Amino acid sequence: MRLELRGITKRFGTFTANDAIDLVVEPGQVHALLGENGAGKSTLMNVLFGLYDADEGEVLLDGEPADFEGPGDAMAAGIGMVHQHFMLVPPFTVAENVMLGHEEVRGPAKLLDLDAARAKVKEISERFNFAVDPDAVVEDLPVGAQQRVEIIKALSRDAEVLILDEPTAVLTPQETDELLAIVKDLSKAGTSVVLITHKLREVQAVADTITVIRRGKVVGQAEPTASQEELASLMVGRDVSMTVDKDAAKPGAVMLSVRDLSVVDELGIPRLKHVSFNVKAGEILAIAGVQGNGQTELTEALLGSQPVTSGDALLDGEFITGKPIKDVLMAGLGFVPEDRTEDGLVASMTIANNLILDLHDQPPYASGMALKPSVIDEEAAKHVEQFDIRTTSTEATAGSLSGGNQQKVVLARELSRPLKLLIASNPTRGLDVGSIEFVHKRIIEERDNGTAVLIVSSELDEVVALADRIAVMYHGEIVGIVPPDTDRDTLGLMMAGAKQEEAA
Ligand SMILES: Nc1ncnc2c1ncn2[C@@H]1O[C@H](COP(=O)(O)OP(=O)(O)OP(=O)(O)O)[C@@H](O)[C@H]1O
Ligand SMILES: [Mg+2]
Repeated sequence: MRLELRGITKRFGTFTANDAIDLVVEPGQVHALLGENGAGKSTLMNVLFGLYDADEGEVLLDGEPADFEGPGDAMAAGIGMVHQHFMLVPPFTVAENVMLGHEEVRGPAKLLDLDAARAKVKEISERFNFAVDPDAVVEDLPVGAQQRVEIIKALSRDAEVLILDEPTAVLTPQETDELLAIVKDLSKAGTSVVLITHKLREVQAVADTITVIRRGKVVGQAEPTASQEELASLMVGRDVSMTVDKDAAKPGAVMLSVRDLSVVDELGIPRLKHVSFNVKAGEILAIAGVQGNGQTELTEALLGSQPVTSGDALLDGEFITGKPIKDVLMAGLGFVPEDRTEDGLVASMTIANNLILDLHDQPPYASGMALKPSVIDEEAAKHVEQFDIRTTSTEATAGSLSGGNQQKVVLARELSRPLKLLIASNPTRGLDVGSIEFVHKRIIEERDNGTAVLIVSSELDEVVALADRIAVMYHGEIVGIVPPDTDRDTLGLMMAGAKQEEAA
């Protein structure tokens, strides 16, 4: 199907998120849509999918104007979408979620349909190597698995136009490769794909055509042969350094000491097994590993949101395990969670208030019981400027921000108070290349100011770029701690479970 967007304009109040955008996706083409955080990519796709009504312009399918009242109409017309923010119903099972929205699901046929949905989930997960159980309840699944469910849901409809809004942000590198291969296959079979991603390598791997938008306008087209540097500068309008510059660390005293820490989940399965390590003031320890090997349990145990079954942790000599979360944060922990929408932000609260979430009852924001709005606003304005959070007002809700800008709010908040230890899980997930450059600089500054930094990242490039030491996790254990110049093959072997000695 040939898809054409003609002169699409979408405003939120006085703010123009899409400004007369033209875009043509030919049948069977993989069309990459690139742009900075807040450029208007998701908005444009939401217009196409019938979630937003455009203020101006039209959508044409094979030359015929399409007027979608809602996503149901878009799906009926052959459009499928994987959303940047999950649209799943959390208490429902995977199969039920996949079944939802399928036109043919009505009344008494339900039981049969659920079996069909189950079979469909099985079939697609097998084809993709996605280990997704059709009967698992969505809210119990980690983010990576939820992303796979979204993809399965979109693919289950055999769409003619498939919109993928940052589908790989929470996938492992292996899963990403599988998905990109499927995108290629689908396009060969005639499906048109619109792919939104901040990972330029993916664009180079699968795109036939690239359109770049900036501040709501199309600023150019690029060929898939363009270098990452060229794409980056077209996106952000300046040169971006793709490498991280840093001096050697000058580690001080031990700041975080983790001793024999173990976590067993509700089902009795060990998730973290006798983990011990130290992080010194002024150094970055980065944890490499395939997602789901105990990283989440480790960071949450340190924060205090995950009960530990044995062992303890000390921050600057004081026990933090077993303490309330708030006390741990007040003791000098900065925490960037893995799931910003679930744990990092309150979507219905203003950006200003989200920027002081953990501190709202502390001076200088409050004196006694009263909040001090002027101080809060000043601080918020400062953060918005420093972190380049694209918004019309600090009084807008966090939920109205683009995905990458929500991530920047969490980072701005956690990096803007005096810290002894920073724990950041995938700190640059969803950020554009320019913002990644900035955040990496800020993390290194934090290190150079003497903060101990613990990074968890599923991006090996990020681990290698930031780490002073790399700890590799596998099946709940640290299989080794190695220097950052360790070769990729060794790291890969360790991530697959080989002990440090065997891998080397
Ligand atoms: N519902 C809304 N209400 C008000 N403003 C909105 C709303 N949705 C989006 N915006 C604004 O429109 C702009 C474009 O947002 P959009 O989500 O399309 O960006 P994006 O290009 O997808 O960015 P990212 O890479 O961070 O996902 C942002 O500045 C955002 O604040
Ligand atoms: Mg987006």
